[in-house]
Amino acid sequence: MTQPTSDAVMNALPLPVMTIGRDNAILQANSAAEAFLDTSERVLIKKTLNDFLPFGSPVLALIDDVRTRGASVSEYRVDIGGPRLGLERIVDAFANPLADDSESVVLMLQERTIADKMNRQLTHRTAARSVTALGAMLAHEIKNPLSGIRGAAQLLEHAASSEDRQLTRLICDEADRIVKLVERVELFGDSGPVDRGPINIHVILDHVKRLGQSGFARHVRIVENYDPSLPPIYGNRDQLVQIFINLLKNAAEAIGPDALEGEIVLSTAFRTGMRLQARGSSERISLPIEVAVRDNGPGIPDEFISEMFDPFVTTKENGSGLGLALVAKIVGDHGGIVECDPAPRRTTFRVMLPMFSEKTAVQSSTDDVSNETSVKD
Ligand SMILES: Nc1ncnc2c1ncn2[C@@H]1O[C@H](COP(=O)(O)OP(=O)(O)OP(=O)(O)O)[C@@H](O)[C@H]1O
Ligand SMILES: [Mg+2]
Repeated sequence: MTQPTSDAVMNALPLPVMTIGRDNAILQANSAAEAFLDTSERVLIKKTLNDFLPFGSPVLALIDDVRTRGASVSEYRVDIGGPRLGLERIVDAFANPLADDSESVVLMLQERTIADKMNRQLTHRTAARSVTALGAMLAHEIKNPLSGIRGAAQLLEHAASSEDRQLTRLICDEADRIVKLVERVELFGDSGPVDRGPINIHVILDHVKRLGQSGFARHVRIVENYDPSLPPIYGNRDQLVQIFINLLKNAAEAIGPDALEGEIVLSTAFRTGMRLQARGSSERISLPIEVAVRDNGPGIPDEFISEMFDPFVTTKENGSGLGLALVAKIVGDHGGIVECDPAPRRTTFRVMLPMFSEKTAVQSSTDDVSNETSVKD
């Protein structure tokens, strides 16, 4: 068998890939890039990237960034729409320096519609918001009458025969189960500004690991693969614990109680060049702290992949389907991203978070104040 040429490999890739040289000249473009820019490679190589992108496009800044830093940079949710490419073309852009050439950069674009299909779940605010409203309603309309029902069943229990007592117990148990569900939904409630500070993510992971090993993850081996030099993140301790309990619990449940070689790997890493464009502003937030939870369970069923972060989506008999929705909400509230790589035996949930700096702390405390005033208005 002959070795395929690198051109053939480039052209087989479903995503647009281009090599950008000095002065942003397009040196090379694969078939997907030709289709994306609606121009043949023959014409493309006479042009520069600036011909296609709007003036001052973040993608051009991204490429300059790669040149100066000599390291890869990714940026999520960049709007490259304009007169040439049409409006509302949102992409994730990944740029890497070309080895042994300080000017050339390899650029890969992933249009958001495809990205969405591939489960890069950026923010799930809409889904979370609908649960928030539902939560507030449930709390009032369900919890109070339920405590009445439970109380009445307990009263009946005293006078009931042992056969009937089974029924009153059933009422109490089921009422308790609903209260628990409502309490989980209530976690979505907007409880106003939360207390945040610098947090060592390893302390959180240690705590979650301990909880898991003494309970829901007793049957699996948990391996730690940490970068000890990781700087603190800016977050709320309890909420961060909640994120990783939910992810660890899902991983342990995916592996199942009978697996002999169940293993979960918790890892942390510092990744420069992970950035997210803030919604509704041109500001870009850097997300250098990556925490991953990987399990060697069977992977995620195809039909659930696109909606598994939505509330009430579950494949478990006793699942509420709120675990990942809550993860998405909290990660979003922390200004981060959660994404999933659903491969069997290597299912990975990756959380990317901003790092703590005095500036973020001051900035967000003023944000909190402005939120508060707008609520009072
Ligand atoms: N690590 C994983 N491996 C395989 N499937 C997973 C994994 N994590 C999540 N899933 C799938 O995503 C679904 C939704 O997860 P989610 O945590 O939101 O709810 P749940 O675990 O079913 O219920 P709850 O968390 O409320 O107990 C799960 O039912 C499962 O099918
Ligand atoms: Mg869960």
